[in-house]
Amino acid sequence: MNDSETRGCFISIEGIEGVGKSTNIRFICDFLNDLGIKNVSTREPGGTPISEQIRDVLLAAGNKSLCPMTELLLIFSGRAQHIHEIIEPALTSGSWVVCDRFTDATYAYQGAGRGLPTDLIEGMENLVQGLIRPDLTLIFDIQADLGLKRAHRRSKPDRFEREELGFFNRVRECYLTRANAFPDRCKLIDASQNIGEVQNEIKNLLEQFVASQT
Ligand code: TMP
Repeated sequence: MNDSETRGCFISIEGIEGVGKSTNIRFICDFLNDLGIKNVSTREPGGTPISEQIRDVLLAAGNKSLCPMTELLLIFSGRAQHIHEIIEPALTSGSWVVCDRFTDATYAYQGAGRGLPTDLIEGMENLVQGLIRPDLTLIFDIQADLGLKRAHRRSKPDRFEREELGFFNRVRECYLTRANAFPDRCKLIDASQNIGEVQNEIKNLLEQFVASQT
């Protein structure tokens, strides 16, 4: 369907910790592969060797004194590199990009979570991304305490996962608000359902989205 003359589509995957993003991203890429749609799976923060080094700084539990403004600047630095090295070249070549988190996460974590002003984030979004925005965003939603419990079972908590419940409640609320504000782009999926139900919803949404692109 996509040849090198057609720009690829950009899909971002969002949600608080413990919503099962990784499993669902594998499902999404398999789904696209089955349709013969070339795709690249990547993540933020990270996605390139330089951006992965920035990710290490952001996630290191020992970096307790990292202030919200430094956090925001690091996230957008990593994003600039990621767009330059991976996202833009892939989209230009006709490949679809499936990105584990993108700028909705910045509004949710640095905006709602840390309390940085939305217009500051908006300004940086325009500066760093130019016209690049996801075409489709799947937001996986779960109650913050359930998500955190799942995440803590999985691995030692990183710097974000050490935040209190109130932080994740604000992050989740922001995701819900954005899903409401951008209903064409953002699709909300109830991640508390069993995996079969979740994947069924993903499949339906992707089928609709792919059909809308042809
Ligand atoms: P991950 O757990 O999905 O790999 O993401 C690592 C953390 O990065 C997660 O706690 C959310 C955080 N994050 C932000 O705070 N702002 C952002 O813009 C992005 C992309 C991630």
